[in-house]
Amino acid sequence: MSREQQKQDAAAKAVEYIPDNSIVGLGSGSTMYWVMQQLGELVQQGMHVQGIPSSPTTEQWAKEFHVPLVYFSTEITKADVAIDGADEVAPGFHMTKGGGGSLLREKIIADAADKVIIAVDESKIVQQLGSFPLPVEVTPFGWQKTVRDIQSLGCDPVLRRSHGAPFETDNANYVIDCDFQLIERPDELHNQLIQLVGVVETGLFADQVDIVIAGTDSGAEMFE
Ligand code: 5RP
Repeated sequence: MSREQQKQDAAAKAVEYIPDNSIVGLGSGSTMYWVMQQLGELVQQGMHVQGIPSSPTTEQWAKEFHVPLVYFSTEITKADVAIDGADEVAPGFHMTKGGGGSLLREKIIADAADKVIIAVDESKIVQQLGSFPLPVEVTPFGWQKTVRDIQSLGCDPVLRRSHGAPFETDNANYVIDCDFQLIERPDELHNQLIQLVGVVETGLFADQVDIVIAGTDSGAEMFE
């Protein structure tokens, strides 16, 4: 079975957790395309949902599939459920996110949601985090100093670039991809990184996640 089919199967299972008349946090990444497509079908069948998009691409897919959107406001500060993808998922629901650079908005949405569901293809399930370089969002001002501070934690940090220029997040920040090779204590590492002046957010997620659904060759497998 192809990786794309696995993502599609995981997405189909994930949308089953969306209650009618709910506000849904919408993550980013290619798996979310399938989530949006399937959510669009549910909306066409009469389901009432409003999605909070975590990126312009997700917003565009929502519009394509006619999923109504809503945005954080003084009245809207919570979501009933959030669905997102991930780059690596390790035991204990420790995970790395931010491959697409939307980590900060994704984490805000996850934090606002009563239930967070992560949909991935089987290749994302790992025994330990670290093969995928950890994305860390930093302020553009003084990023060179922040990189040096991050490096002192024992990684090889690289400023993410796009078309030769620094990659800019939707929050006008930069992303440092940090190759730690192996992340043995993700919580501890997150705490160390987030304390560095200039670090806005890390791509390490754990506490926020309730359910992981992995698409496999024998169907979608669920971990709670
Ligand atoms: C974007 C993310 C994505 O969820 C992550 O990169 C997984 O993407 P995909 O579904 O394309 O494998 O964190 O910032």
